[in-house]
Amino acid sequence: MYDLHAHILPGVDDGAATMEDAIEMARIAAANGTRAILATPHRKDVTEDSSVRHIRELTAELQRRLDDERIPLTLALGMENHIDAALPEDVIAGKALTMGGSRYILVEMPFFGDIGQHEFVEGALIGLQSQGLTPVFAHPERIEAFRRQPALLERYIGMGMLSQLTRGSLLGHWGADVRQFALALLRAGMAHILSSDTHAPNPPRTPELGDALKVVAAVIGERSARAMALHTPRAILEDKKRIITSP
Ligand SMILES: [Fe+2]
Repeated sequence: MYDLHAHILPGVDDGAATMEDAIEMARIAAANGTRAILATPHRKDVTEDSSVRHIRELTAELQRRLDDERIPLTLALGMENHIDAALPEDVIAGKALTMGGSRYILVEMPFFGDIGQHEFVEGALIGLQSQGLTPVFAHPERIEAFRRQPALLERYIGMGMLSQLTRGSLLGHWGADVRQFALALLRAGMAHILSSDTHAPNPPRTPELGDALKVVAAVIGERSARAMALHTPRAILEDKKRIITSP
């Protein structure tokens, strides 16, 4: 599997606290069948308290440690980019990162409030698209505006954007509403990839994907579930223009 949303870099955001935690997360992921992880620190934390240079160095250092310990896992670097008006410019300036340098970018909507309260959102999304980038929504099932107005997400997907479901949502970690909406997105073909959004080696936000993959397979079938955890995320990291978008 390819996990494209993971807070595995140590000491950068609210994810892995130490290098040892990060290595343990990688070990768990690898044992669970994950072959590649995209490290996605929060853009805000990198901008305010760290730097792109630092997270690149950390990624290289962690990869060296994994290789030394013979943990069969490949790292790539991206970011979980909260959407603000500056995002399109920050990508050009190299301050906001796409998914492993591809034309896909992981974006995080404001968690609460109607989209009408966040007028900059659509402008920023279109700004990214006009640079040839494809926004991938981080856990849309956890975003209140999308739960209230699924048609909005449907419209964005119709415009070519993608959506990433988070493991914990399917397991009920965020409550019944989030779980139900995640299932509804699966049934509607509005979920394209499955990721862990891991924050720590220990539960609930571990790097495992296998348990959630079973939930996905029960809803959309084994083959489509594999596309969400393997073929589509791999195609994204390989920067393929055409990817499987409808499970
Ligand atoms: Fe995240």
